[in-house]
Amino acid sequence: MQTSFYETRKAVSEYLLFHYGSEDDLLLDGIGPKEALNFARRCGLLHADYPLNHGRALDLGCAVGAASFALSEQFDEVVGIDFSHALIDAAVNLGKTSTVEIEFTQEGDLLRKATISLPEDARPDRVQFAQGDAMNPDPNWGQFDFILMANLIDRLPDPAQCLARIHEFLNTDGLLAITSPYTWLEEYTPKSKWLGGFLREGQPVRTRDTLVELLEPAFELIDTRNLPFLIREHDRKNQYSIADATLWRKR
Ligand SMILES: C[S@@+](CC[C@H](N)C(=O)[O-])C[C@H]1O[C@@H](n2cnc3c(N)ncnc32)[C@H](O)[C@@H]1O
Repeated sequence: MQTSFYETRKAVSEYLLFHYGSEDDLLLDGIGPKEALNFARRCGLLHADYPLNHGRALDLGCAVGAASFALSEQFDEVVGIDFSHALIDAAVNLGKTSTVEIEFTQEGDLLRKATISLPEDARPDRVQFAQGDAMNPDPNWGQFDFILMANLIDRLPDPAQCLARIHEFLNTDGLLAITSPYTWLEEYTPKSKWLGGFLREGQPVRTRDTLVELLEPAFELIDTRNLPFLIREHDRKNQYSIADATLWRKR
């Protein structure tokens, strides 16, 4: 069976750089959209303008954990879950060691080194990372006041199935934040399961509208934001995206 990209060494260093890289590491001579940096941390702060019990938070599809560590500044307990063993191992390791050396692409086969550090205000003692599956959520994860699903839904085989159960894990009045650039790819999600980005009976189907249809019985949509993010490919090439962030209050 083909190894998933998210289990590769390349994914681990790309995500460590994406989540924790400094402006110097990420932008050549400081050129580029600075508002697109620190995406994971900005995701971890999406709840901040709203009244909320700061007991437990879940970061579902946490990758190497920067949003989980941002959440640990405000929540008593944070659980970070990802399907990738390699990404979870890297998150756990960073929580223990606070710094890690990575190599990333400069140009062609040439690599550059960087030291990645845990943000100073992070509280690793409050964070637990575990490998797990958003398609089969585990009741042992417990109940949460805030659930973050950052750039996860368009990487799932059946996002509607995942979203149908998410309310079970949220306390009443809890908040759910979903971010996604809605980059639907058949590599991850069969077209029959896409939430948008296609015509149905000649009419465009948009992901945001489907999210409202799927979530409104259990949730009220209370905020939307554009969240830009930058994924570095090499010194002179970056992928710039704008995630749609939607914030939902459980009824
Ligand atoms: C595009 S990345 C986003 C990572 C991180 N949330 C961020 O915003 O940087 C998608 C993440 O979802 C994880 N993932 C994919 N399928 C999953 C599943 N079924 N359950 C949990 N995590 C999953 C991947 O391993 C990867 O870390």
